[in-house]
Amino acid sequence: MQVHKYNNQMLGAIVVVAFLSMTTSTMAQATKKFVPNYDESKIPPYQLPAALQTENGDRVQNAEQWNDRRAETLRLFEEHVFGIMPGQRNIKVKVVRSDRDYRPGVTRHELDVSILPLDASIDRSPLVVQVLADVPQSDAPVPAILGLNFQGNHTIDEDPKTRIPTSWVRDRRNGTTDGSKAIEAGRGVASTRWPSKMITDRGYAMLTVYYGDIDPDFDDGFENGVHGLMPEFIASLPENHRPGSIAGWAYGLSCVLDAIEQTEALNVDATRVGVLGHSRLGKTSLWAGATDPRFAMVISNDSGCGGTALCRRAIGETVARINTSFPHWFNDAYLQYNENESALPIDQHQLIALSAPRAIAVGSATQDEWADPKGEFLAWQAAAPVYQLLGMPSEDLKVVEEASMPNGQSVINAGPMQYHLREGKHDLADYDWQCYLDLADRTLQTESR
Ligand code: GCU
Repeated sequence: MQVHKYNNQMLGAIVVVAFLSMTTSTMAQATKKFVPNYDESKIPPYQLPAALQTENGDRVQNAEQWNDRRAETLRLFEEHVFGIMPGQRNIKVKVVRSDRDYRPGVTRHELDVSILPLDASIDRSPLVVQVLADVPQSDAPVPAILGLNFQGNHTIDEDPKTRIPTSWVRDRRNGTTDGSKAIEAGRGVASTRWPSKMITDRGYAMLTVYYGDIDPDFDDGFENGVHGLMPEFIASLPENHRPGSIAGWAYGLSCVLDAIEQTEALNVDATRVGVLGHSRLGKTSLWAGATDPRFAMVISNDSGCGGTALCRRAIGETVARINTSFPHWFNDAYLQYNENESALPIDQHQLIALSAPRAIAVGSATQDEWADPKGEFLAWQAAAPVYQLLGMPSEDLKVVEEASMPNGQSVINAGPMQYHLREGKHDLADYDWQCYLDLADRTLQTESR
């Protein structure tokens, strides 16, 4: 008995010590302040996965083989990064406003795109996504740029008629929201990011949608937004492949493209729509371009980690950091790459390559170190072999290969591939739009593609 008692005491002590050390290490982890690295000399040696080599080690030598490698790459991003969304969509469109006198030569439309539950027997109301479209008046359908916005369609300019979203918004605590409700005071606050006149003057329609209409930007356990429309589909997936918010927002962009296709009154040519996004929404535009080849052009502005910045550099925001601050953007499998980037079977140059051979624009800003502008440039450069394989002329390839990271504001144009660096901070500004519209002029302006 005595021995037994002694053993029990020992055991108790071991448990207490183990518990204490566990709590201390968990606490240390929780309180450990993340210090981003900005020192190039501290980047661990890394090798990028070859975009043109299959998981089996086979070289990809022609467009047909790329089709298989593309499917494999897409699956790797689904399974390890973003999660899987269904291939089907079911929408209904209602035009709720067509203001032909909005601006001389430009009609402003507002649409309701209802995204319906995939399985009609599910008792869920459709999700209504509000689309705002400024369309140059023209005899023939016009090309367009479609982008999600962060704060609501009413924030893109002062137009008093634009509807205010009724879905969740982030509490800005600056008077432009009332808690998580959008309010009148937010009207026009994001106008510098949406230079509608510049865009329509150049012959493009500008379409925008508030991202929170598609999915709220917090972890809601797949309850709300698009995820809430497909409980059976989500439950059927392995837990770590369930889709995060980025996959949800990208799915919503495809639904909007369906709506453009179905709405003749818009007069937008659905075969010539570029998808654009800034920051987390730039990660989203890349994923939308990857999952939906109908997007004719893909534009990723200051998208950083999880977007166009190479994970393996771990400069600025890292995989571990983004998975700590925003775990709901990605799937759970992505967590295993925290401080373990070299184990990733892909890197972000391959996300860019999934847009090939379509036009791709990658934009960075000089003061946006958190997003690692150089990592964005290098990923863009490393995507070039896929573009070459799919027909990019050798003189364009040469431009990409010989380019070095710009020092100041400038743009590198190489056929369908464009990279630019803007002076300034993390933002979507006029210069960014000018670069994107220049690329659109070269790639979206020919009719009947
Ligand atoms: C944070 C986040 C970035 C993201 C950005 C944004 O800064 O760390 O990854 O791009 O928010 O979307 O505004």
